[in-house]
Amino acid sequence: MSETQLDVRGMGKPDAYRILKEQLDAVCEGVNDPIAIMATMACVLHHGFGQLWTGFYRRIEPTRLLVGPYQGTLGCLEIELGRGVCGTAALTRQTVIVPDVRLFAGHISCDARSLSEIVVPVFDHRGEVMAVLDIDSADAGTFDDEDKRQLESWVTRFAQHG
Ligand code: SME
Repeated sequence: MSETQLDVRGMGKPDAYRILKEQLDAVCEGVNDPIAIMATMACVLHHGFGQLWTGFYRRIEPTRLLVGPYQGTLGCLEIELGRGVCGTAALTRQTVIVPDVRLFAGHISCDARSLSEIVVPVFDHRGEVMAVLDIDSADAGTFDDEDKRQLESWVTRFAQHG
């Protein structure tokens, strides 16, 4: 198991994600607890890319998300389905990329420095949204289709959980 907190800034995204995924897989080998995996995934992504906020909101009721494992500054605790970027991704079951949060009506601002974000829905074994993965950046236009493709692939590992 790697003891080092990898920093992949400056690398191309495919290489960056591949290296971080290898670390995640090594650290989480044999681990099945979804919270432990969420915490580790948030840590690996957060320190790898150096974003402002990286973490999960878990769907604890049909219409309510509650903050889960994350890294970064204080996140808001609860988000209603359909509200903000996280609630929109959870409701529509689609990844939402916001290149400029100032142009997203209803964006929930937890950190004024945040300028762009990506939110990826996480599905359980029944295909229900069990959580969302939210990454917030201090730069505009940080996330693209490559992040979407990679992160959607990363969170498929939660499909074995209820
Ligand atoms: N960006 C989110 C709110 C959560 S915090 O930024 C951590 C949203 O608008 O859904």
